[in-house]
Amino acid sequence: MSNQNIYDNETFFEGYKALRAGETNYNDLLEQPAMAKLLPDLNGKSVLDLGCGYGHNCIDFIKRGAASVVGIDISEKMLSVAKTESAHEKIQYLNMSMTDISQLDDKFDLIYSSLAFHYVEDFNAFAKEMYSVLNNGGQLLFSQEHPIITATIDGNGHFNKNIRGKRVSYTFSNYNEPGERKVHWYVDGVIKYHRTFSDVINALAKAGFVIEEVCEPTPEKWAIEKLPTIVKEYIKPNFLIVKARKV
Ligand SMILES: C[S@@+](CC[C@H](N)C(=O)[O-])C[C@H]1O[C@@H](n2cnc3c(N)ncnc32)[C@H](O)[C@@H]1O
Repeated sequence: MSNQNIYDNETFFEGYKALRAGETNYNDLLEQPAMAKLLPDLNGKSVLDLGCGYGHNCIDFIKRGAASVVGIDISEKMLSVAKTESAHEKIQYLNMSMTDISQLDDKFDLIYSSLAFHYVEDFNAFAKEMYSVLNNGGQLLFSQEHPIITATIDGNGHFNKNIRGKRVSYTFSNYNEPGERKVHWYVDGVIKYHRTFSDVINALAKAGFVIEEVCEPTPEKWAIEKLPTIVKEYIKPNFLIVKARKV
């Protein structure tokens, strides 16, 4: 099945751009700080960023001493921003699907991916491909939407409130039915793939990865001060982060 390229849809692209430009987006308050804490030493390393978007992380890897970075994205629009805002002689941007990485000639010390793996349908095959393009001892660090978030039949999980209007719990459904979920996010028909927590971990283990750390980030004090409603992350996590190694 071909991969959806929703970020090239004009309405979606503009909506997502506005989200990321806002000061209180969950990427900046929660996901990116947690990912940064798990980054290995990048001095002299080669990095592959899957679903690199605007390329902000690619530039950050260079600042952290990476020798070379390849950023891959299926969206021409996202890559055109990357090539303008995040250009560097040590960074190469490729317009291709991350599910085609077996076509790359190079191998890498780190595969990094922020919030893109829930767009991949066959995670078992993908995990094997990632394993094969890593150098021995290389690492994989990725974040994805948490399986609780993708566990809805209609793409709309919701909070339940008590009589005083305070959020107290969260309803999700069809957790143990992995597969496609079509959701409305700026536009109708955005396709994501739900996987259970065990699906994710087992795909990596079967590919040969050793899991080094798993993180379901909670907001730090500074983030709660900026956006008090983010405390709802204590009711249910939005993100799943995994760090693994090829041995
Ligand atoms: C939520 S954005 C994250 C962008 C970037 N990683 C960041 O953190 O700012 C997800 C990105 O994954 C890209 N993407 C989705 N499916 C893809 C695929 N099959 N291959 C490559 N990129 C893909 C999208 O075009 C988009 O740029």
